[in-house]
Amino acid sequence: MKTSSAPGKVYLFGEHAVVYGEPAVPCAIRRRAEVTVRERDHGLRVQAGDLTLSGFAVEYDSAEADRPDLDAPDALVDAAMGYVNEAVAQARDAADAPEAGFEVVVDSEIPLGAGLGSSAAVTVAAIDAATRELGVELDRTALADRAYRVENAVQNGQASRADTFCSTMGGAVRVEGADCRAIDAPDLPFVIGYDGGAGDTGALVAGVRELRERYEFAADAVAAIGDLVRRGERALAAGDRAELGRLMNFNHGLLSALGVSSGSLDAMVWAARDAGAAGAKLTGAGGGGCVVALDETDETLTALEYTPGCEDAFRAALDTVGVREES
Ligand code: MEV
Repeated sequence: MKTSSAPGKVYLFGEHAVVYGEPAVPCAIRRRAEVTVRERDHGLRVQAGDLTLSGFAVEYDSAEADRPDLDAPDALVDAAMGYVNEAVAQARDAADAPEAGFEVVVDSEIPLGAGLGSSAAVTVAAIDAATRELGVELDRTALADRAYRVENAVQNGQASRADTFCSTMGGAVRVEGADCRAIDAPDLPFVIGYDGGAGDTGALVAGVRELRERYEFAADAVAAIGDLVRRGERALAAGDRAELGRLMNFNHGLLSALGVSSGSLDAMVWAARDAGAAGAKLTGAGGGGCVVALDETDETLTALEYTPGCEDAFRAALDTVGVREES
């Protein structure tokens, strides 16, 4: 039996645009997904709790699972199952053991589909634990690459390397196409607001792609996100928090124009700004889920706690530790 964990993340800048080769800067946060894998004769049994689902267990012998009967949107459950299925397929491939069976237990502190990188964290930890269980040690670059292939498969060939690279390496990273690297970043005062909801990453990514293909100004909005990320990197290096906040606000506006915000995300963004946050934006695919704000005082946290539609507000520190062997 092997257990691995990997961190979730927030996007300081650049989600969605990163799918089209623009740079993005995600930062790992100290909320982790832990995956335990035990080899067994055949098939796959998955048990998961704490994914904002009520917890589910599903057992099957082929890659085609029956969908577990859960009080959660089908797309979300299908996606969750898809990530585990594909992660297991990658582990079987890495170990050249196509028939290997597994018992997989997922235990995550990261809400599913909420923009905090739960799927990447589960994928990275699952591949790491499953390959080690089969006696194969992948280095981090190979692990990040296999985790990317999982996300790309589940997101219908429309994924960037950002989430999976960040979750594998930890800390702040910069991703532009296949160029992925760790960057220096101070521990920024992240405050997260969570509306209790979730977005369907595949559908949201497809929506942006459609807009970008139909309207030149939508393509310009994607390119403008790339421009602000490049400025953001300079602000990060200079430790210029006011400029980082301004650019986060701008980034939220462009994401909103691309149709991936929601009423509750906008309400939380404005509550944070009104409370004096240096900046606030949605994080991840959007459609519901989380916003991230920068504020070292308690004002934003308190304001979010009283914002209708905000289910949970909390601080998140940078996690410099990426994937980790737990046992
Ligand atoms: C989702 O966490 C981030 C997106 O940019 C998709 C991706 O990068 O694969 C929306």
